Amino acid sequence: MKKRYLVTAALPYANGPLHIGHLAGAYLPADIYVRYLRLMGREVVFVCGSDEHGAAITVKARKEGTTPQAVVDQYHTVLKDTFEKIGIDFDIYHRTSAPIHHETSQDFFRKLLQKGAFLEETTEQYFDEVAGQFLADRYIVGTCPVCANPEAYGDQCEKCGSALSPTDLIDPKSMLSGSVPVKRPTKHWFLRLDQHEAWLREWINTGVADGKQLHNPADWKNHVLGQCNSWLDQGLQPRAMTRDLDWGVDVPQEIPGAEGKKLYVWLDAPIGYISATRQWALDNGKDWETYWKNDDTALVHFIGKDNIVFHCLIFPAILKAHGDYILPVNVPANQFLNLEGRKLSTSKNWAVWVHEYCAEFKGQEDALRYNMVKKMPEQADSEFTWKGFQETNNNELVNNLANFVNRVLVLSHKYYAGIVPAINPDLDFKSGWETDKTGSYDQELSLLYGKLREMGTEIERFNFREALRIVMEISGAGNALLQFNEPWKTVKDTPETVKVVLNLALQYVAVLSVAIRPFLPFSANRLRKMLNLGLLRDKGDLLAILNELVEGNPIVLPNHALGQSEHLFSRIPDEVIEAQIAKLGGGAPATASAAEKTTYEPMKDTIQYDDFAKMDIRTGKILTAEKMEKSKKLLKLSVDLGFETRTILSGIAEHFSPEEVVGQQVLVLANLAPRPMMGVESQGMILMAENEEGKLSFVSPATGWPNGFGVK
Ligand code: 2FM
Ligand code: ZN
Repeated sequence: MKKRYLVTAALPYANGPLHIGHLAGAYLPADIYVRYLRLMGREVVFVCGSDEHGAAITVKARKEGTTPQAVVDQYHTVLKDTFEKIGIDFDIYHRTSAPIHHETSQDFFRKLLQKGAFLEETTEQYFDEVAGQFLADRYIVGTCPVCANPEAYGDQCEKCGSALSPTDLIDPKSMLSGSVPVKRPTKHWFLRLDQHEAWLREWINTGVADGKQLHNPADWKNHVLGQCNSWLDQGLQPRAMTRDLDWGVDVPQEIPGAEGKKLYVWLDAPIGYISATRQWALDNGKDWETYWKNDDTALVHFIGKDNIVFHCLIFPAILKAHGDYILPVNVPANQFLNLEGRKLSTSKNWAVWVHEYCAEFKGQEDALRYNMVKKMPEQADSEFTWKGFQETNNNELVNNLANFVNRVLVLSHKYYAGIVPAINPDLDFKSGWETDKTGSYDQELSLLYGKLREMGTEIERFNFREALRIVMEISGAGNALLQFNEPWKTVKDTPETVKVVLNLALQYVAVLSVAIRPFLPFSANRLRKMLNLGLLRDKGDLLAILNELVEGNPIVLPNHALGQSEHLFSRIPDEVIEAQIAKLGGGAPATASAAEKTTYEPMKDTIQYDDFAKMDIRTGKILTAEKMEKSKKLLKLSVDLGFETRTILSGIAEHFSPEEVVGQQVLVLANLAPRPMMGVESQGMILMAENEEGKLSFVSPATGWPNGFGVK
């Protein structure tokens, strides 16, 4: 066993709020793992922070007509606050704009340069002559050479997942001006990934590096190994670690040719884990280097599957090239979470935003955490549905867990005035684990011990769904214990046996108050209060109860005074769920019964085909959107029609925020005579569908459909 753990969760881009896909992908599994380690008394530091550089930020700032600094300041605060509200308990939530991060990354770069890790090369890169800027990564779009997706980015095609270079794109276009870029020479520093291929292949597949067995590859997830090997099989190429940009960490300026160059965001972001640890160590009087440079530290990166190659190949190559750093012992990446049958999409607002959930479901944070674990995409993509969320809350949290806890506490107050009864442990009763099985007090304690151990093993293997199932099994067996022994019927005739049953049921509840802590931290606190056991310190509390149970000792002792029972979870009614479904992406289809009651607008007069053919309707995509001053109704949009970009004023401001509509594919009546409105000329009209209640929905072609083509 390692002496200490350093756990990282992917630094989210500070360009938008957190949605459930992020939560289930990286943050919740990391939090559960860390909370468990703390409960087992292990030394652990859990770091994260905002990723504040890269095109993700600058593109967003451009779209919103603001500065990158304003974007990161806004979303850093939103993200930090959301993590706190949903109970993701980092030791530090840092940010990559912090001076200590700039210093750390620049020192890293200097060391890599000094070690000869880079190839300095002048290559031809795409340049936007209109915007006067080189176009790397997400500044350039074009057709994917692999799957023909017309909206692939310069670094990746989001449709087929292929990693791309801007020069791979067919028909490249600048994201900044829409113009066709030209090629210009520019110098950059390329990491010699080709030189790292051999050791990476060995390390990924055997866990051995520099002749040392660092981990067992059988502990890594198959899909993670698969993705790494598919990259390795294609051959690793030198990869540029610098960019021509004006936002990011400067390449150290004393280096010749550094002027105007920034570090590639995927170089500086993972170094963000190191700078966050440094800041944490400064704040807490610790030595950060023991966490990054000692072989007896276990470094574990929690990420989503789109970050695998950066954490399993590129960052390890960077760490190895530097020379002083340890490598991760595991990168338990999760796959993607879908929502109601579709991919989560920020631009289409097809998402459940965690900050909105926390505001609308105050006090029910654990209900979301519970469902996220149940649906965690551990080995394959999975799906969140609001109905499923309601079912897990009502059937499992309320009917199983809360019901059990409530029954035990209510009966203990009723029969023993809330004082844990002393018992004769030799009396027989019916076990809750199997029908018609006689239970013994000692055996049941040892069963609980076994279940807690099983739960721990599953968490240590990153099988969080299975671990939670085991926890709920304890609650299920507790319920069955009550059901089989029916203390409410037998208390008069066999009061001594009922004491054993309720004392034991209280041990179950006490065990649950610790076992649920990694998954449901808020409910664990409530439960501790109900049991009057004091809040968990998250420092070896689980280890402490394991030590008692293994000795055959109970957790709550006779004569202990219990607290009052309160509701651990409450039912979520249909209306609440329906309202959430209706909120998704502008509303779900009407139900059959609603459709029957609908009154439709009367049909307009018949027209001839020629009347229709006069309309030139084109496919397009909203590039930017802003509110019009002094108008409640109008949004000012710039719309890409392929052959040109139009300014269109659209009366949708009361239905959609500017942020929601950027990226939306639309149909545009393109030959409508231009019309001045509030001092701006509107050059067309966006087609919208309207329902009975006056709600609006965009009418769009299929995802990825090219812009500028006609509608027939
Ligand atoms: O994909 C993302 O959201 C990146 N911001 C993750 C960075 S992880 C780490 F390297 F910082
Ligand atoms: Zn593709």
